[in-house]
Amino acid sequence: MPESPFTEIPRESLTRPRRPSEGKFLEAIAQSEPDRTYGMIGTSKPMRDVYDMVARVAPTTSTVLIQGETGTGKELIARAIHSTSRRGEHPFVTVDCSALAESLLESELFGHVKGAFTGAQTDKRGLIETAGGGTCFLDEIGEISGDLFYRLSVVTIVLPPLRERREDIPLLAGHFLQAFRDANEQAPSSIAPETLALLAGYDWPGNVRELQHAIERAAALTTHTVLLPVDLPPNVGGAPREAASAAGSALGLKDVVKDHIRRVLKVAGWNKKLAAELLGIHRRTLYRLTKRHGISLSRRD
Ligand SMILES: Nc1ncnc2c1ncn2[C@@H]1O[C@H](COP(=O)(O)OP(=O)(O)OP(=O)(O)O)[C@@H](O)[C@H]1O
Ligand SMILES: [Mg+2]
Repeated sequence: MPESPFTEIPRESLTRPRRPSEGKFLEAIAQSEPDRTYGMIGTSKPMRDVYDMVARVAPTTSTVLIQGETGTGKELIARAIHSTSRRGEHPFVTVDCSALAESLLESELFGHVKGAFTGAQTDKRGLIETAGGGTCFLDEIGEISGDLFYRLSVVTIVLPPLRERREDIPLLAGHFLQAFRDANEQAPSSIAPETLALLAGYDWPGNVRELQHAIERAAALTTHTVLLPVDLPPNVGGAPREAASAAGSALGLKDVVKDHIRRVLKVAGWNKKLAAELLGIHRRTLYRLTKRHGISLSRRD
């Protein structure tokens, strides 16, 4: 911890359980589809580590500090912890700490007795007590005092930025397109491999939220049945990049095929079934092509 009384913890949230409980998390994982966990999409190693942490911490009464960049799913994780704990039947109370004066935060949270400080004219119940039996979700805690930090952060869960788990991007994109299709009669049916490659290559400073918006926007505005690069926001869509590289080198067809298969495999997170689907070929054909072109079928990162 730094010497300063204030600890800089960017964009974080805390959940504070109030009652002992046993998580139903593992049971629920067993019942859920293999690539879904409590509405969370993502099967990458960093996300599986997050799910493990949630499973371990949900049954306890520990306070959890959830850290991560904007749009990484901190609120979703807080709700997953709540709903899989035995507090799930009790309220989930969100406190937007950015709306509370910093000097009052601690007494707002924990309450105070009359005369505890100038202006404390009566006893006051804290918000955490008010959420008794449920979960108190302290959102946007921003900068907090070291003292408060020690009181609140027992277990820390760090949500990885999307650019550090790119293999989740096709899954998330497909999920958001499906959600759009569920809600709209006229909707594109799939995402072109070139589009997926661009999505997987972009850095997503706004993380999952930014990806969600990009897919929704593309699905709403496209005139095609398949989402094409041209449907992506200009900062994500790299159509000129494609054109330039294709024109800049006179590659033989074999190299292009090899290159493309490799790229799609990477985009698909080395999931052979998904890669074959994206390529529009049978899985056996994919195996044959990879063998012929000497492409490794396992991850190389
Ligand atoms: N793994 C995921 N699977 C599906 N949807 C996700 C996932 N992560 C985030 N989302 C969606 O992305 C959006 C942003 O998530 P959320 O509000 O939990 O982020 P946050 O970390 O709290 O962001 P902020 O710091 O800006 O408050 C939500 O619509 C959420 O449903
Ligand atoms: Mg949030």
